[in-house]
Amino acid sequence: MNVYKIAVIPGDGIGPEVMNESLKVLNKISELDGGFKFEFTHFPWGCKYYLETSEMMPTDGIDILSSYDAILLGAVGYPGVPDHISLRDLLLKIRHNFDEYINLRPVKLLKGAHCPLKNTETEDIDMTFIRENSEGEYYGTGAWLYKDTPEEVVVQDNVFSRKGCERVIRYAYELAEKEKKTLTSISKGNALNYSMVFWDQIFKEIGKEYPNVKTCNLLVDAAAMFMVKDPKRFQVVVTSNLFGDILTDLGAAIAGGMGLAAGANLNPEKKFPSMFEPIHGSAPDIAGKGIANPLAAIWSASQMLDFFGYEKWGKVLIEAIGDMLINHKDKLTPDQGGKASTSECADTLISLL
Ligand code: NAD
Ligand code: IPM
Ligand code: MN
Repeated sequence: MNVYKIAVIPGDGIGPEVMNESLKVLNKISELDGGFKFEFTHFPWGCKYYLETSEMMPTDGIDILSSYDAILLGAVGYPGVPDHISLRDLLLKIRHNFDEYINLRPVKLLKGAHCPLKNTETEDIDMTFIRENSEGEYYGTGAWLYKDTPEEVVVQDNVFSRKGCERVIRYAYELAEKEKKTLTSISKGNALNYSMVFWDQIFKEIGKEYPNVKTCNLLVDAAAMFMVKDPKRFQVVVTSNLFGDILTDLGAAIAGGMGLAAGANLNPEKKFPSMFEPIHGSAPDIAGKGIANPLAAIWSASQMLDFFGYEKWGKVLIEAIGDMLINHKDKLTPDQGGKASTSECADTLISLL
């Protein structure tokens, strides 16, 4: 029996609400399989913890997490704690310290999910976003000069290292080659004359190792336009940290909404734990109402199953989500036009497994 030690950080707002359901689903899957199980350890870190301790996680939090096989995270951030503190000191700290340099975000329109674009078929939206997740615009250093004077200036560093760009771009080429898909690199070399010129150069260099992969380069502004006008242009996509953040929310909007948008923060070498989380936030506007959609968190859990090598179960979960969207619309949450609560939705999904 394989036993996986999973650190669970439910976090803030709807984070704990969707996490509960995700854990129920994972327990059910391990019960059905019989060959593996999960040991979940809960960590109450987040904004409430911060208000009590002045820290988002304990000083040795990263050390504690390092002994787990993976991390499941709900959502972080809540009014009352400045976002740049809550996110930097927990979510981004984990991504950074565990070198989770691949942020793998499927943008896939399942049959039955609502797409706001006209004349768009299910198969027209099937992208895999690979977002650089360790540096770039999120590097986190900078300067605040001449504070509170008319000369005030702020500088936010953007750091693109050769190693950082090469590894994420190579990962994307590998995936495109393996899945026989096209690869689009999204950048902005016309205006960002250091970072993005460098990115484009590395994309071209690595491309020489993959002569069979058909590639395309798009500027990020045009890419945003094409995602709405002609989403079928995109298959595997690789882009920088900030562009990937923004474009995957756009991706969520065209592929059924934030309630269905999943993501995995991977350290592909498995030197450190990877982290699985829906891409949505803590949704303070609906927190506590029991109506948050658990399917994004469940989809992220399916990415964890894939990562552990149980692709068969990952697929079963996505099929069950698809089944919900077509055959059990009344058991969906209000964001998907249903009337069900978070737990009714997940319980129905569990009954389909
Ligand atoms: P958000 O994703 O929390 O919410 C945006 C909108 O989508 C809201 O209307 C919300 O109700 C809806 N929504 C999101 N998830 C949903 C779900 N599962 N079911 C139904 N509706 C859902 O984004 P925001 O409002 O910009 O951010 C709120 C807080 O979350 C901020 O503190 C932000 O920094 C943080 N945040 C955290 C993460 C994370 O932990 N990974 C991601 C994004 C935002
Ligand atoms: C996401 C979130 C985070 C990001 C925030 C909360 C720091 O928006 O996971 O998409 O920008 O990466
Ligand atoms: Mn985001």
